[in-house]
Amino acid sequence: MKLFLIILMCMSLLASGKVVGYERPSIYPKSGMYSLWVNSTAMQIVAYSGYDYVQLSMSEGYPTEFRLRVIPGGNVDSYNISPEKWQIKPKKDGKDLVFSVVDAHYLIITINGIKEIVICADPLETDVPPSSGPGIFNVLNYGADNTGVTLNIGIQSALDAAGKSPGSIVYVPAGVYKAGNLKVRSQTSLYLAGGSVIRNTGIKSDYTIHYNKTGLLPGTWWISTEFNSKDIKIYGRGTIDGQGGIGRVDNDFIADMVVPVDTAHFIFDGPLIRDSSFWALTPIQSTDVALKNVKILNRFDIGYEDDGIDVMESTNVRTYRAIAISKDDCFSTKTWPKDIGTTVPYPHDPMPLDNVIFDDCVAWTQCYGYKIGQGVYEDQSNVVFKNSVVYKGAVGIGIDHKFGSAKVSDVTFYNIEIEHISGLAGDKCSWLDLYIQQPGTAGAGPIEGVKINDIKVNSKGTQGAYIQGYNSANTISDVTLQNIYMLRQTTPAKTFAEMDITHMDFSSNVKIVT
Ligand SMILES: *[C@@H]1O[C@H](CO)[C@@H](O)[C@H](O)[C@H]1NC(C)=O
Ligand SMILES: *[C@@H]1O[C@H](CO)[C@@H](O)[C@H](O)[C@H]1NC(C)=O
Repeated sequence: MKLFLIILMCMSLLASGKVVGYERPSIYPKSGMYSLWVNSTAMQIVAYSGYDYVQLSMSEGYPTEFRLRVIPGGNVDSYNISPEKWQIKPKKDGKDLVFSVVDAHYLIITINGIKEIVICADPLETDVPPSSGPGIFNVLNYGADNTGVTLNIGIQSALDAAGKSPGSIVYVPAGVYKAGNLKVRSQTSLYLAGGSVIRNTGIKSDYTIHYNKTGLLPGTWWISTEFNSKDIKIYGRGTIDGQGGIGRVDNDFIADMVVPVDTAHFIFDGPLIRDSSFWALTPIQSTDVALKNVKILNRFDIGYEDDGIDVMESTNVRTYRAIAISKDDCFSTKTWPKDIGTTVPYPHDPMPLDNVIFDDCVAWTQCYGYKIGQGVYEDQSNVVFKNSVVYKGAVGIGIDHKFGSAKVSDVTFYNIEIEHISGLAGDKCSWLDLYIQQPGTAGAGPIEGVKINDIKVNSKGTQGAYIQGYNSANTISDVTLQNIYMLRQTTPAKTFAEMDITHMDFSSNVKIVT
């Protein structure tokens, strides 16, 4: 296996930056829809279910040309580039759509109405470790198979060996590694080099069953931290491939991809997660967690519950620069009861959730882009969703207080652009849904204090928005709406009717601020 990393220096007389492309792992087919050159360097696009994608890193601060070529049919006729907020102004050049950007972005583009391509451009890596040397545990030295043929024990052997030297790094070079459960040890890092793929087999007997998801399937925490750990980092530009299509559809088995659990000062920075069969990246009962440069590319054709990031019972969690594509919710927070379904393996009694921020995210879903719920069995407070975009969703932003009787308080949705709303999540289809339910005996609880500011609602959905409590004992109170721009109006909406908020029972002190 060769080193599958192409580094290309692109120089000019005045300024020079760097573009790093990653060779398409041999297990993935090539896109038949698009080609892409970044500053004249060819990128390798992966054909995927529902959309194609490509990953690259680039220096920021210089104008960098993206030349995207549509392969089938004629010349570029129509196109769409999301997020619109970057105001990218391309030009058509025959079969090419050409544009320049100064900073790295996650973009979702279609040309002539064909399949989307997701361009995942990250800033250059800043902390690339050497592949060998003091404190580096290269998995190839622990018998890891990088050909994708046999189920690996080498990676865990390297992780265990690294665990005996705090501060060390487990290095996974380019190649394909089939892996069972992996446990990252306290005070160590796991580095996935560009071109590496850690692959779930999708076979239940290869994994520890940690829980049975009520109403779904048995599942595992695939890659997790050890309990009572600290200072763990998972980073790099490799791929974590859940093979959800095989696991879930063919073998009745689900997996969370990356599970920081009972850990402090955890960092996830850079790897691409694809085809998760269940909630993909799930901080659980952890504190001081940073999730950066996150790319979760799930499929729309293997069923619901393939959420992007679910923060559960954790405090001080910041997600920054992320794209999540999932049939179910992209970014959400939840709290749960003890020892039921997915919480059976939780190390602690149920814990509240506090101080969770999602910043600079892109959501593409058939459910909610940004959501609190449905589980609210312990209090959830100080949750902020900001500077983010919904490319497509059934609901843009919301709180679905469905299970549990605890309180949701002090929530902010700030500077969010909602591009397309369609379909149904349950019976909801709108830009905003804040509501409380009580199915069976699961309890109901209040929502207090929600600020909704600077929202561009380019598409509002078909069912009307909700700010609706359950009954007089379980209400939604103290909500402010400010600068809500409906359907590309240049002045903010002045009434609930203009905002299409049509369900407002059991709510109090809901104000439009001008
Ligand atoms: C792309 O090319 C331009 C013009 O030569 C240069 O200024 C810029 O630094 C390059 N960008 C990158 C990321 O290499
Ligand atoms: C999951 O369900 C199976 C079958 O009922 C059972 O044998 C197993 O112990 C359960 N596992 C967990 C972790 O709850």
